[in-house]
Amino acid sequence: MKIAIDGTAASGKGTLSENLSKELKLPRLDTGLLYRKLAFMYIKSLKLIPSQNTIDNSILKNILNDFDLNDLELEPYKQDLYGNFASRIGKLDFVRIKLKIIQIEFVENMIKKKGGCILDGRDIGTEILPNADFKFYIDAPIETRAKRRYKQLYSTNKSIEFKNILLDLEKRDNSDKSRKNSPLILSEDSILIDTEFLNPHQVLKKALYYIKKNK
Ligand code: DC
Repeated sequence: MKIAIDGTAASGKGTLSENLSKELKLPRLDTGLLYRKLAFMYIKSLKLIPSQNTIDNSILKNILNDFDLNDLELEPYKQDLYGNFASRIGKLDFVRIKLKIIQIEFVENMIKKKGGCILDGRDIGTEILPNADFKFYIDAPIETRAKRRYKQLYSTNKSIEFKNILLDLEKRDNSDKSRKNSPLILSEDSILIDTEFLNPHQVLKKALYYIKKNK
């Protein structure tokens, strides 16, 4: 069984993916971490915070030559700096082509070994797993998502400001939805789950209900 989960930033798609993976005993790939790891490696190689406008494609291409799925769970990748930069480099065709190859390899491997997998990201149902058995699109109003993100980050950083988080999310939504190649869209064959008034358990229950009903 192949499950595709797409959605906006901080919508709860990662939590649903993790919970479904436990419940259905299927391996999971958080594809945002691939983009975040690439952003992290690029910024580290520059030894400074990148300027707003220029991305050196040759450095990125070099990093991509040896890029793989290892060590995706590093704590720094979670920082918004890398999420925002991941969204910028996600606009580049050569980045998406290489990361698609890596994702498809993972899918084929997991189908052989475990009989399926769950991927979450922005273009899973449309580009990576167009023939997925189930496709979910997870969303919530931007204020709700910003509040969640604020709560999460405030515990480690008391100086963060709510309005900056809201602005950041707005910028990232726009960037992910408006890019030419594989933008984030709610496709006709996706099940939309709005998580505004649901806790993670209720979101899982909704997804499981749909899967069981349509299996
Ligand atoms: O899901 P996330 O917030 O960790 O993703 C970070 C960024 O990576 C996201 O804003 C856009 C990019 N991304 C993408 O372009 N395609 C994916 N399948 C996953 C993430």
